[in-house]
Amino acid sequence: MSADENEVTLKKITAHCKEYGFVFGSSEIYDGLSAAYDYGPNGALLKNNIKEYWWKAMVQMNENIVGLDSSIFMHPKTWKASGHVDAFNDPLIDNKDSKKRYRADVLVEDHIAKIESKISKEVEKATKRFGDSFDEIQFRSTHPRIIGYIEQIRSIQARMMSAVEKGDLEAFKQLIVDLEIVDPVSGSKNWTDVRQFNLMFSTELGSVAEGANTIYLRPETAQGIFVNFSNVQKSSRMKPPFGIAQIGKAFRNEIIARQFIFRMREFEQMEMQFFVKPGEEMKWYEYWKNQRMKWHNSLGLGTDKYRFHDHLNLAHYANAACDIEFDFPMGFKELEGIHSRTDFDLSAHEALSGKKLRYFDPQENESYVPYVVETSIGLDRMFLALLSAAYQEEQLEDGSERIVLKLPPALAPSKVAVLPLINKDGLPEKAQEIFQDLKLDFSAQFDAKDAIGRRYRRQDAIGTPFCITIDHQTIEDHMVTIRERDSMKQERIQITEISNTLEKSVNIKTLLKFN
Ligand code: GAP
Repeated sequence: MSADENEVTLKKITAHCKEYGFVFGSSEIYDGLSAAYDYGPNGALLKNNIKEYWWKAMVQMNENIVGLDSSIFMHPKTWKASGHVDAFNDPLIDNKDSKKRYRADVLVEDHIAKIESKISKEVEKATKRFGDSFDEIQFRSTHPRIIGYIEQIRSIQARMMSAVEKGDLEAFKQLIVDLEIVDPVSGSKNWTDVRQFNLMFSTELGSVAEGANTIYLRPETAQGIFVNFSNVQKSSRMKPPFGIAQIGKAFRNEIIARQFIFRMREFEQMEMQFFVKPGEEMKWYEYWKNQRMKWHNSLGLGTDKYRFHDHLNLAHYANAACDIEFDFPMGFKELEGIHSRTDFDLSAHEALSGKKLRYFDPQENESYVPYVVETSIGLDRMFLALLSAAYQEEQLEDGSERIVLKLPPALAPSKVAVLPLINKDGLPEKAQEIFQDLKLDFSAQFDAKDAIGRRYRRQDAIGTPFCITIDHQTIEDHMVTIRERDSMKQERIQITEISNTLEKSVNIKTLLKFN
């Protein structure tokens, strides 16, 4: 897909989410708040289903993983120990003319993207010129202009990396000046110095009169798990290797929050910290990489939609890290992180709190600070991944078009819609009877308005895997028509068979079997 088509797709998904009650902009009646979103009736159901699937795959299916629900507010020292107070920063630069603020690294990356697009244009031209005989690999490695562009990119990346690693903000500014980067809004090169900007939101605890304390809204759920390590380990009588899983809100004052729900300031994480004996972390790191990819693949969105991206530049606390990237409408981007965090967090909390965060191994008769392998996925990003893969515009045989969300049936907001063919002759009553029974087991909808074709389209648009239609014949033979969303195939089945038929494909069990 071209960049323009990608943008169209993301715009279409955003519009679809609003029209069908998945996601609304926050406080829209006041013109909205940037990068904050509300989940509507269908969105809330889908989000809950993703959470349920993740939680069951992690906690229910693994005897050595237990859950936690820790608070968003934590003692401020937590963030000192974790390194977030000192190091959770973005390098920012302001343009003095437009008064706009930018992430310095993003300005440089956008500049690199422009050079990359020059390379693509050269390749495109040559493809047209040489046709079938064109050898792209050879062209890229021998064409003098392309070689020059690649050298430029390498040199820029090396300078930026060195500035980041040394925390040299002057060198960062000089890079922007040397590259003659202009403000995308004003075209001006009148830049301030680069400075670090902490991404944590702060607020005050207690009234001013009592002497208020600055506290932070947690930027990751993980620290709630680390500070509770001993509480959970002792109360659940766990011994390494064991994990603690948690789903909860996290907050980051992202300077450039964009691309719908991809980068938000308030978002939800599903994290699992796995505590292991030092020295065994690489084995578990590989294990969790593999397990998490299996979880993703079980959803059937296509194995080609995912790829691993190993981090070359490791954070100070990590000895291995990678992302699971997903092919979003704007290209492959991080969906989940898997990090081998060593004993950095537990040791830092031990040092600052003076409390032991260790496991006593009775066999070895010694205690140690466990190493940690974490899996961390953004719930909102997972939601966007599902919608981007599921959203399809289909041309039907009769020339009409339908928009269908081909969501994994077990995650769909509604599993079944019950539709009386017409709204009289006892059909609504019979349909209600069936609906009342089905809703005990399934998230179900009842819809008697409009022509049946329109009602099918409405259900397709929200991803309902099955529609049950009740017609005059049903009153006589107790059979209904069941229509499957993706194939649109219809067949007659007994009313008593409906539950069993649904159960086979919408039960979350069908997904959990990957484990
Ligand atoms: N505890 C590790 C940690 O927080 P991270 O890579 O910063 O690692 C983990 O975040 C995941 O959280 C990301 O892979 C992404 O899915 C999600 N995430 C991070 N920042 C986000 C944001 N601003 N908006 C939405 N999701 C975000």
